[in-house]
Amino acid sequence: MLVRKTTENEQELFLRTLTAAFGVQHQPPAEGESAWWAALETDRGLFAVDHDGAPVGTAGAYTFELTLPGGATVPAPGVTTVGVLPTHRRRGVLTSLMRHQLGRFREEGETLSVLLASEAVIYRRFGYGPAAYSQRLSLDSHRSAFAVPVGTQGAIELRRRADSGELLAEVYDGYRRTQPGALSRPAHWWSAGAGRPPVSHTPRHIALHRDAQGVPDGYASYSVAGTDPVTQTRTLTVDEVVAADDAVHDVLVRYCLDHDLVDTTVFANLSPDHPLRWRLKDFRAARTSPSQDSLWVRLLDVPRALTARRYAAGGELVLEVQDPFLATTDRYRLTVDGQGDAVCGPTDRPADLTLDISDLGSVYLGGTAPSTLVRAGRVRAHHPAAPARADALFLHTDRTPHCLHWF
Ligand SMILES: CC(C)(COP(=O)(O)OP(=O)(O)OC[C@H]1O[C@@H](n2cnc3c(N)ncnc32)[C@H](O)[C@@H]1OP(=O)(O)O)[C@@H](O)C(=O)NCCC(=O)NCCS
Repeated sequence: MLVRKTTENEQELFLRTLTAAFGVQHQPPAEGESAWWAALETDRGLFAVDHDGAPVGTAGAYTFELTLPGGATVPAPGVTTVGVLPTHRRRGVLTSLMRHQLGRFREEGETLSVLLASEAVIYRRFGYGPAAYSQRLSLDSHRSAFAVPVGTQGAIELRRRADSGELLAEVYDGYRRTQPGALSRPAHWWSAGAGRPPVSHTPRHIALHRDAQGVPDGYASYSVAGTDPVTQTRTLTVDEVVAADDAVHDVLVRYCLDHDLVDTTVFANLSPDHPLRWRLKDFRAARTSPSQDSLWVRLLDVPRALTARRYAAGGELVLEVQDPFLATTDRYRLTVDGQGDAVCGPTDRPADLTLDISDLGSVYLGGTAPSTLVRAGRVRAHHPAAPARADALFLHTDRTPHCLHWF
């Protein structure tokens, strides 16, 4: 199967091939809205082509930065627009695209790549593991009282998405640098309205929080649906609440819960260990969806990736990392000092743990315990102390990884 780069003038063909793979029609955006694909990077697009030169599969990548535990950021190509025509499935087309794409990422010197998966069974074979998770939480207004009141010195201003792009971009950028698992949203995403609300230009209300000096430091993006004809109730859906400071975050959550003429408030994307349930007087009031995988991580340069993040404690661990898709098995010694900074390099010492590269991706952001993967039979511990030692190093220090960005 031949894989080639897409050219500047092939975007229509690319989108038509992709949407056919998903079984939907390629539609121009509705009036007043923007195209989800407005930030596609043509120079990172790939076509898999049939023997007659016709495209049968697509893959692309966005240029993002990913925040790691400890606050460092690394470049992170975000794999996207993956599809294979229904007429050409299960013949290795995706495998060819992934091999080509990972090869290019490695030539370009990338440390890791990330994606959001349509199905959980697709990407592990290519070395990706689920590393951050998300949950939908809904609350009935009459059961949403907080146990402890919240407040800030600042104030909330109500705005429209259409007038707020630059403010949102600025607040989001401050937030994502503090949040492991968060991705950057490049400026052209906001200006072109790519992706989903509030980055897209779909109309939204914006509750913007300003601190006591008037500086924007948080926002909630939300919409209120019309009255449900059957239940006669109204639902407010919050796309995202973004604030680096927990108090600002909580004030914005309270604002959403206190909206008049709303029976239920839905928070579409929260971290599964978000403290909101613990804020409530009625612990059972929150209805949560099962926790779902959001961001998947694929390490491409293990020593560089492992030294880029910080760790919860000092210690040492030898990892034998198997990467069947790239046909490698390597052993690395990870040594973390008392400040949580690491050095990592090849070693011939005996391994503490043997694990697949996808499982290393899962533990990398600190949201999955290595011991859980040992108990699940995915990771092999070579002595009884190894799982706890790995947990002490890898698990997050302050915040669980979380990714709000859709791509
Ligand atoms: C998912 C998709 C891209 C797979 O493409 P493909 O060319 O059929 O994949 P391949 O033939 O390279 O499959 C490689 C392996 O993955 C398995 N696989 C691929 N997609 C799978 C799926 N959806 N469910 C279960 N297994 C899958 C194949 O069975 C094959 O297994 P094997 O190596 O044991 O034989 C294609 O089915 C598709 O376009 N689906 C709809 C759009 C979509 O979901 N895109 C992904 C967006 S994140």
